[in-house]
This record gives sequence, structure tokens and C-alpha cells, in this order.
Amino acid sequence: LESMKILPSGAGCIPHLNAVILGESLATEENDYVLPSEQFASQANVQSPEQYLKMYKRSIEDPAGFWSEIASEFYWKQKWGDQVCKENFDVRKGNINIEWFKGGITNICYNCLDRNVEAGLGDKVAFYWEGNELGVDATLTYTQLLHQVCQVANYLKDIGVKKGDAVIIYLPMLMELPITMLACARIGAVHSVVFAGFSSESLSQRIIDCKPKVVITCNAVKRGSKVIYLKDIVDTAIKDSTQNGVSIDVCLAYDNASALKREDTKWTEGRDIWWQDVVPRYPTTCPVEWLDAEDPLFLLYTSGSTGKPKGVVHTTGGYMVYTATTFKYAFDYKPSDIYWCTADCGWITGHSYVTYGPILNGATVVLYEGAPNYPDAGRSWNIVDKYKVSIFYTAPTLVRSLMRDGDEHVTRYSRKSLRVLGSVGEPINPSAWRWFYNVIGDSRCPISDTWWQTETGGFMITPLPGAWPQKPGSATCPFFGVQPVIVDENGVEIEGECSGYLCVKSSWPGAFRTLYGDHERYETTYFKPFAGYYFSGDGCSRDKDGYYWLTGRVDDVINVSGHRIGTAEVESALVSHPKCAEAAVVGVEHEVKGQSIYAFVTLVDGVPYSEELRKDLVLTVRKQIGAFAAPDKIHWAPGLPKTRSGKIMRRILRKIASRQLDELGDTSTLAEPNVVNQLIELADS
Ligand code: PRX
Repeated sequence: LESMKILPSGAGCIPHLNAVILGESLATEENDYVLPSEQFASQANVQSPEQYLKMYKRSIEDPAGFWSEIASEFYWKQKWGDQVCKENFDVRKGNINIEWFKGGITNICYNCLDRNVEAGLGDKVAFYWEGNELGVDATLTYTQLLHQVCQVANYLKDIGVKKGDAVIIYLPMLMELPITMLACARIGAVHSVVFAGFSSESLSQRIIDCKPKVVITCNAVKRGSKVIYLKDIVDTAIKDSTQNGVSIDVCLAYDNASALKREDTKWTEGRDIWWQDVVPRYPTTCPVEWLDAEDPLFLLYTSGSTGKPKGVVHTTGGYMVYTATTFKYAFDYKPSDIYWCTADCGWITGHSYVTYGPILNGATVVLYEGAPNYPDAGRSWNIVDKYKVSIFYTAPTLVRSLMRDGDEHVTRYSRKSLRVLGSVGEPINPSAWRWFYNVIGDSRCPISDTWWQTETGGFMITPLPGAWPQKPGSATCPFFGVQPVIVDENGVEIEGECSGYLCVKSSWPGAFRTLYGDHERYETTYFKPFAGYYFSGDGCSRDKDGYYWLTGRVDDVINVSGHRIGTAEVESALVSHPKCAEAAVVGVEHEVKGQSIYAFVTLVDGVPYSEELRKDLVLTVRKQIGAFAAPDKIHWAPGLPKTRSGKIMRRILRKIASRQLDELGDTSTLAEPNVVNQLIELADS
């Protein structure tokens, strides 16, 4: 804490850097940082670096006091016990254990809906839903949302879903998706949303792991001009899981008639039920299941560097307090804001910052069903103008792709309602940051570049828009209660200006508590690499002003368009193909996607390379994981560079993939050094 620089507010606060003031001029490469204007700062929730530091200091020195004051703003049926937080963060001292507000009895759905309705927000819009097609939309107020959530909750109870039961939700961005999440939360069921871009095999893997009481889906969805038949994918997944001993008694399907007619939907009598045939018949009130703060709220599967996806477990109380607070401060949220986050609820961003964080704050949220470039590249700004969006939160990949499409798609819309912009999912390169700031935000809107993860539940390192001067490409400074540290390869903390592995010292309320059914993997993956710390898997540097700069994953995880993909998952999909003997997957830099997937493939002896086989291998990955994980490049490899002990040298593969052939480094430890030359010869064949 002492080493954090206190940046006084006002222009010229970092003497060696050139500043531009919010709203006054363009952020160019000569300007190192952007200062909040006095006008913005004076209305902000946190108005100066000094105010931030005061709050931050308190949050670290007295976390119990800091967080319990905030938690008291929520409804608790019964207050938590004497200890606000109990944790063991050090594997050397026993099992990792994190508890916040233990003994406190609450319900997050109650806090999202009933509490806000009682506070007078009943007629306020909770969701503006914008359909894929222009002109198709719907609105739900807080009261209407509460009623619909209760109907689904009553239905779920009626079919026997109880506290602690898992429910899998495989839905596109219809309002029914957050409605179902909230309904599960209301009755204490543990939702597991599976992104509707995942394949049937990925879905069945998750069904087998968490054994849900019910799977909730819809018949089909239109994204852009394409129809995706979700129910067919679910049918195959349930067939697979049944063969593996996990059968599903009920599949509730929303009839999305605009994408597919009811009569054209494949149906399993006795198991499948149309949402519209049952849900509206249930009462619009439903008693709340009161839960301990540490009862699980949801499971969300995410990719790791090895093995099958991990079921990240978040609990009720800490997650509630943390998502609400981070939302309020990082976006400088005000009740008059209209907020749009482009993420899908199938990812953590859609959990914490489409559903729980904003709804806990009583915010008005825009949900968009379709693709950002449909019917053209201006659609996002059309939506911003239509709903007068004031906070717009998206991923760098979208910013870069819109940047490539040209400014004219942006400038033909007004966008004057925008006030705060946000970025998430991958590092935002300074040139994309500047375009986002100068063109989308007309140099008027600060950008909150929020660094966090599925595991962290909420923002960890993020600007507070009215407080900090922002540097294009830096996520700036830690959120309240978060103690990031940078360690070297021996796990030794490095002070001041440095680069290394990003870890976190001690817990924060939104932290995940375990991996579903595998606490040992939780400890091994996150707490054993650097004992005493949570290891994020990310590389990071800190500059002389104390700002953090994320540099990407340091493990075998690839980030494609903000989607997290384990190289091991793609490799295992490839080697499942009968003609593939071995595969090694690396990420290479990609202008729009951030990274793309590059696969080295060794074929079974005697099988010739062919374009047809290449396509078939890519198709195998699409089928096993999902289209978003398809490799961009298959590189035929007669052999892979391995050490004498048989370990694949990915460092060399990464250099070959990015054609940095003069940077291959030491290849003398390879079992067969000639393999490298063969790979280079085949690089563009
Ligand atoms: O590498 C970091 C990157 O996304 C990873 C987490 O992915 P996931 O769990 O899918 O959650 C994505 C949405 C929170 C991180 O380990 N990442 C996320 N946000 C940023 C980022 N990298 C740099 N800057 C960010 N703002």
C-alpha cells in the first residue's frame, strides 16, 4: 500500500507524462494518459485519487468493517456471525477455505427484485430486449420481471427442483435467460448456464458432471442471418449423457417462434415441455428460499490448461455484495443510466454484469439477441441511440472488428447518450483503446478496462472513471479489497516497476470457493503454483506510477475473441480423429480476435495430407467444443519438437506459428533437432 503512488488530481499530475483531459481533445500517441474532466469527476461516485486511496486503504486494513458496511445495504433475513471473513489462503497451512458473511441468511433474487420493487422501482425498466431483427423488441419492468421469475420458480419447484439441485440453462440472449437464472436463485437451485455456442459434446460433458434435474433451452435462435437449432443440440447431448448414466427427465423448451415453428421442432414426448404451455399458468408470487451466504449460487464451467473444463463454484452472499459494488464504482453507475453489456449470459461477464451486478443496483439493462454486425456494422450504435445507452461495456475484439469496418458506421449515429465505456476479456491494445475513446466515445467517455476472471466473480483491477487518470491499454489499479502482487518464477513478490506472474494476496468477497466436485484441483491449479497466493494464470507488469498492464495468459490457455480455450481441449478433440496421431496447439496473435488457434498435427503413419482432411479436423473441433474454438490453421507436422524426456517444446512451436524463425532459441535439447527444419519447410504448404 505504501508503495502505491498517490497521484494528485488535476492536469500535469504525473510530470513526466503528457495528458489529455476528458472531453477536450483526441487521445493521440503523444498523450500518455487521459484525465477525468472536472465536470465528470465532480459528479462521480469516487472523485479523486485521494478519495480512492482512502477507501482502498480502509478496505485493506479493515476488510471486515469495509465490506460489512456495504453488505448492510442489502436485505439479510439474519445477519452474519461475528466473523465477516474467514479464510485460509495458504496451502502450507491446510486446505484452502474462503468464507464471507457466513451465518448470514439472505437471497440474491430477493435483493435483485423484491427489494428494488419495495424501494419504488417497480415501474422502472429492468430489461430492454432487442431482437436480432430490426424493429423486434420487448420491455420488462422490475415488477414484471419479478412476476415472471416467480412463475418460473414455481414451475421448477413443482417439477421437484429443490435447494442445492443443479439446473442447466442452454439459452441464447432471450429475456428468459436471466429470468431463469434469477428463478433458480430464488429457490436455491444452482444454475449452470452453458453458452449456447457450445457443441452437444461440450453440453453433455457438463450434464454428466453436474447431473441437473432439468435442462432449459429453446427450439432455435436466429443470430444474424443464421438459424441455430439449439434443441437439436440439446437432444444429442441428452442422448449422450443418458448413455453415460445421467438421464434427464425434463427438458423445458422456450418456443422461439421467430426462428423455428413449433411443429418443425423435434420432440420427445414425456420429457420435453414447451415453456409457454406451462410457465404462464403458475402464480406470479413465490416465497423465497432463504440461504446461507455460503450456499452455492451457480456453477460455471471454464477452461483450464489441462483436462476437462472446471466447474467454478460461486456462493451467495459475498458474490452479491461484490458484483453490486464493483458495478457501481467501476462504471460510475447512477440510477438514470441505461446500461448495455454485449456479453452473453453464457460467460461470467453475463452473470456478474448483465444479470446480478446491474439488477442488484436497480439498473436498466439492454439485452441484445443478435450479432453486433447485423444487418450492418452500425447495429451497435443503432442500439445505443435507440435506448439512449449511457454505459457501454464490450470486448476489445468487437472494438477492433468495428475499427476495421470504418468510422463511417459509427459517426452516422449520434451516440451522445454515452458517458462511460468498458472493456473486458483480453488486453486492449493502445490503438484500439484510442479508437474506442476518440471515435466511439467522442473523446468524452472514460474507459473502464476491467481485468478479472470467471474465478474472481467480479472486477479485480479496474479504473474508477472519475478518480484515476487513465493510460491507454492499462487496467490501472486494484479495486477495493483486492491486493494484487507480481511474483517471479520462484514465487517471490517483486516490488515497484516490474514484470512477472499476477497473483492475489488474501481473499475478496466475490472469489470462487471451489471447483465443483474437485477441491484438490482447485488448490493445485490456483494455490499451489505460488504458495500463499491465488495465481491468476496471467502475466502482468507494473509501471513506475503503480499502474498494472496485463500481458495475457502464461499457461496453456488461449484467449480467442475474449473466449477462454484450453489448448489441451483442442488437442484432445483433434486426436480423437482416427487419422490424427498427435496434436499440439498454440495461440498466435490475431489482428481482430487477439489470438487465433494454430494447430500442429501429426497424422497416423501412411495417411496423406489433404485439404479434405484439414476441413474434417477443423469440423471435429467445432463438433466437440464449438465453432468459436475452430483452429484457423492446421500445420502438418511429420514430428513435433520434443525434449529427450518427451515433452513438447511449445516455445519453439509458438515461434514457428508466428513465423519468428530467427527467434527459435536453443534447439540443442531437442531429441530430434531436424524436426524443426521439417516444420519450417511445411509451414505454408
Ligand atoms: O487473461 C485474462 C483475460 O481473460 C482471462 C479470464 O477469462 P474468463 O475467465 O473467460 O473471463 C473473461 C471475462 C472476465 C484472464 O485470465 N482478461 C480478462 N479481462 C482482461 C483480460 N486480460 C487483459 N485485460 C482485461 N481487462
